[in-house]
Amino acid sequence: MNAQVAHVLEGDILERDRLDNLPGERASALGLAPATFGAGGAEPYAAALRNADNVLYLRRSRDGGLTAAATMDAGRWSADADDTDQRLLDGLTGPVLDIGCGPGRMVRAAMDRGLSALGIDVSPTAVRIAVDAGLSVLKRSVFDPMPLEGGWAGALLVDGNIGIGGDVTALLTRCAELLAPRGALLVEVSHDPSRNERYDGRLEDASGLLSDVFPWAEVGVDALAGHAADAGLRIDHDWRLDGRWFARLLHA
Ligand SMILES: C[S@@+](CC[C@H](N)C(=O)[O-])C[C@H]1O[C@@H](n2cnc3c(N)ncnc32)[C@H](O)[C@@H]1O
Repeated sequence: MNAQVAHVLEGDILERDRLDNLPGERASALGLAPATFGAGGAEPYAAALRNADNVLYLRRSRDGGLTAAATMDAGRWSADADDTDQRLLDGLTGPVLDIGCGPGRMVRAAMDRGLSALGIDVSPTAVRIAVDAGLSVLKRSVFDPMPLEGGWAGALLVDGNIGIGGDVTALLTRCAELLAPRGALLVEVSHDPSRNERYDGRLEDASGLLSDVFPWAEVGVDALAGHAADAGLRIDHDWRLDGRWFARLLHA
């Protein structure tokens, strides 16, 4: 682990709040934690990570029913970072924060480049897998107090993570607080540039196991510009690569 991140984690880990010691399922059942991506219910996200299942379906929950699905490749999250992922790290000097890091492939990729890097995630299973693999990952919500507030040279919101919490402006506002004055936020956006949706989601696996309902959002690059402006950020540039679309945001 890079010395800079090791130093900030030392105090932070010692002061873990008590939720860090509760399994996610219990914390959510006790009403102590807000509903988050794929958690609760039959815990299909945790099961997919544990079993290296490949396919998860993100459903929209409406009027008690489930509508259109997006397919998510959970196998990619458990694999090594691919070339497209690696390109995101080009030009970053660190420290880098991966928000909603899952099992930590981007943290590993950053660490392998010698960057100081930290991942955060609310999923106990994802964090356990990452920590067991020797990665610098904390069980922490992006909305909680964070090491290096205002000091991150780079932050990542990839794999649909712009949807975290369902309120894109609130999430970007929080990211702006975390970024250093000249820091960059790298965001993966929807294939549809005008998409700007906020909805209640549920995650389902191939055998029909469902999570609890959680707030989620999807935005394309055009809609992202408005949310960014409201958060005090601006899009520096955007690019498409290998069927994915990314934007680089800086302080306005
Ligand atoms: C679409 S998955 C992305 C997976 C991940 N990027 C990977 O490489 O495995 C969303 C991730 O965001 C995490 N998440 C959801 N809400 C969060 C929050 N408030 N703070 C931090 N992470 C969160 C979920 O637990 C999940 O791991």
